[in-house]
Amino acid sequence: MHFQLSEEHLMIQKAARDFARTECLPGVIDRDEHQRFPKEQICKLAELGFMGMMVDPKYGGAGMDTISYVLAMEEISKIDASVSVCMSVNNSLVCWGLEKYGTEAQKQRYLVPLAQGRKDGALYIGAFLLSEPEAGSDATSQRTIAEDMGDHYLLNGTKNWITNGSSASVYLVMAQTDVAKGSHGINAFIVEKNTPGVTVGPKENKLGIRGSDTHSIQFMDVKVPKENRIGEDGFGFKFAMRTLSGGRIGIASQALGIASGAYELALQYSKERKAFGKEIMNHQIIQFKLADMATRIEASRLLCLRAAWEKDNHLDFTLSASMAKVYASETAMWTATEAVQVHGGYGYVKEYHVERMMRDAKITQIYEGTSEVQRIVISRSILK
Ligand code: CAA
Repeated sequence: MHFQLSEEHLMIQKAARDFARTECLPGVIDRDEHQRFPKEQICKLAELGFMGMMVDPKYGGAGMDTISYVLAMEEISKIDASVSVCMSVNNSLVCWGLEKYGTEAQKQRYLVPLAQGRKDGALYIGAFLLSEPEAGSDATSQRTIAEDMGDHYLLNGTKNWITNGSSASVYLVMAQTDVAKGSHGINAFIVEKNTPGVTVGPKENKLGIRGSDTHSIQFMDVKVPKENRIGEDGFGFKFAMRTLSGGRIGIASQALGIASGAYELALQYSKERKAFGKEIMNHQIIQFKLADMATRIEASRLLCLRAAWEKDNHLDFTLSASMAKVYASETAMWTATEAVQVHGGYGYVKEYHVERMMRDAKITQIYEGTSEVQRIVISRSILK
C-alpha cells in the first residue's frame, strides 16, 4: 500500500486546479446570484476531456481512472460546485451507465458525443431521471409509466429535481413497465430531449448550487423506440442503483472539494485577520477549528480515494461509496459552516465565498441518496 499519487494523477490534479482558478473563479458569485448555468465553463471542461473522463477513448472519452475523476472533482468543487455537479452527473450517472450497460449502437449514437460533451459544435450532455414528486429516497415507487406498445414504449409521467434538466440533450429515464413486479418492473430508457411530448418545467430557485439548472421534466405520450431500453427487461432499478453507487463517489468528491475550498479560505483569513492584538490563527479556539477541519477533510479524501480504487479494481464499491458520501457531505456542511464562523461578519457576505460554500454544501447531504439513505446502504451491508 502506498499513499502517493502518480505523476499522471498529479498532472490531472494540477490541470483541474488551474482550470478552476482561471475559468471557474471569475464570475462565480454572479452566476450564483443570477442562477446562470456555467455553459462556457462546461464547454471548456469538455475540451479538456473532463466530461467523459473515465470513458474508453474508442467511445470519445479520456480513458482516465476513477482516482483522476475524484482529484478533478475536488479541485473544481473547491471553486464552483455548480460546475462540478454538471460534470459529475454527465461522467458518472450518464456516461458510465451507458458504457457499462448500453448496446454498441447506443454507445455509438449517444455515448460518443456525451463523452466528448459536444455534437455538431454544440454542447451535448446528459441527465439522469429517477426522482419523482413522490419517489425520492423511496426510489422503487416510480409512477412514471412506460407502456409496451410493441415496436415502442409510450412514456407518461413527471420527474423532479433533474440536474442538467434544460441543458441536457439526452435523458436516462427510469419508468415502470409492470407495476405488479415492483422494482423488477422498472426499466431505464434513453430519451432525446427534443422528442415530441417532452416538456421542461421552470428552473428551480434553489438555496445552493444555483448555477446548475434543476428542472422537473414531464412526459406526455412520448414514443421511445424499443432499441432505447437499457439492458434486459426489468433491469432498470438495478441499473439505477449500480450507476448511483458510482455517482456517489462523484458527489462525495464534490463535498470533499467544497470542504477543502472552505477550509483553505478560513486558513488564509485566519492568517490575515487580527483580533485582540494578534492574528486570529494564534488563538487556540481558531487553531482547534482548523485542526478539526483538516482532519475531517483528510478522512473524507481517503474514503473517496478508497472507493475510487475499489471501482478501478473491479471490486464491489457500493459500501465504500456510501461511506465516502455520508462522511464527506457531513464534513462539507460542518466545515463550510465553521469557515463562515472563522470569517465572522465577513463570512456572511457574498464577496468572501464561504457563505456560498455553506449553501452549496447542504445539497451534498441530499442528492444522489440522502445521508439517511447512505446509512441504510451501510447498515444493510455491515449487518448482512
Ligand atoms: N446494486 C445492485 N442492485 C441493487 C443495489 C445496488 N447498489 N441496491 C439495491 N439493489 C437491488 C436489490 O438487490 C433488490 O434486488 P432483488 O429484488 O433482486 O433482491 C432491488 O434492487 C431492490 O432493492 P431494495 O429492496 O434494497 O430497495 P429499497 O426499496 O429498500 O430501496 C434504497 C433501497 C437504497 C433506499 C434505494 O431506493 C435508494 O438508493 N434510494 C435513493 C435514491 C437516490 O439516490 N436518488 C438520487 C436521484 S439521482 C440524483 O440525485 C442526481 C442529481 O441530480 C445530482
